[in-house]
Amino acid sequence: MTKLTFAEVVAARYSARQFLPTAVDPQHLQGVLEDAQRAPSNCNTQPWHVHIVSGRTRDKVSAALLGAASQEQYSPDFSFDEKAFPNLLNERRREQGRAYYEALGIARGDNEGRLEAFRRNLEFFGAPHVAFLFMPMIGDGVRAASDLGMYAQNFLLSLTARGLAGVPQTLLGMFADPVRDVLGVDADMKLLFGISFGHPDLSNAAANLRIGRAPLTESVRFHD
Ligand SMILES: Cc1cc2nc3c(=O)[nH]c(=O)nc-3n(C[C@H](O)[C@H](O)[C@H](O)COP(=O)(O)O)c2cc1C
Repeated sequence: MTKLTFAEVVAARYSARQFLPTAVDPQHLQGVLEDAQRAPSNCNTQPWHVHIVSGRTRDKVSAALLGAASQEQYSPDFSFDEKAFPNLLNERRREQGRAYYEALGIARGDNEGRLEAFRRNLEFFGAPHVAFLFMPMIGDGVRAASDLGMYAQNFLLSLTARGLAGVPQTLLGMFADPVRDVLGVDADMKLLFGISFGHPDLSNAAANLRIGRAPLTESVRFHD
C-alpha cells in the first residue's frame, strides 16, 4: 500500500456503514491503539477506557443491544437531545439523514427501511470489531468527553492510513447498561460512544457515502 500524506488520510477518512467479516490483522489493531493512545488530553489525564470487542463477545453485545432496543429500554449515560439543536445544526443533521437514506435507497416514510437501518447500527454494520469508549464521570463530563473525541479521531485516522475504516456511533451509547453487563464494566464507567471498524465492504452503498462540509466561512472568524 502506498503511504498517504496526512492531508490525504484526513480526506480519505469517512464513516463506513457496511463491513466485511474479515478480522483486522492484530498488528494493525495494535498500531491503531498505539496511535490513538498518543492523543492529547487535559493535563495528560488520558481518561479513555477502551474495550475492543470481537468474536463471540461481539455477537453477545449485539444481541443484548437488539434485545434492549426491541423493548425500548434505553440507558444513555449522556443525553442526545435532537430537539435542542439550533436551526443551522438541525439543517445539517437533516441533510446527513437525507443523504444516508438516499444512498441506501430508503424512501421518505419507509418506516420499515428506517428501522432496519437503525438495527444495522446495533449489528455494528457487520463489522468484526467494536471499540467501546468509556470514561469516568468528572464534573459535567465535558472535558473528559473532549479528550475521548481526540482519542477517537486518532483511532479513525489510523484505521484510514492502514486501508481500514470505522464509524463512530452515539447510538451504541444509548444502551450503556447492556454493554456494561455483557463486558462486566463497573457502573461508574460511562459509555460515550462506540466505533465499529474493520475492512469496508466497498461493494455496498452504505460503505460508499461521502458527505461534504460547510464552507470555512460558516465556522471560522479571523481576528487581527
Ligand atoms: C461522536 C459521533 C457519533 C456518531 N454517531 C453515529 C451513529 O450513531 N450512527 C451513524 O450511522 N453515524 C454516526 N456518526 C457518523 C456521522 O454521521 C458522520 O461522522 C458525519 O455524517 C460525517 O460523515 P463522515 O464521517 O463520513 O465524514 C457519528 C459521528 C460522531 C463523530
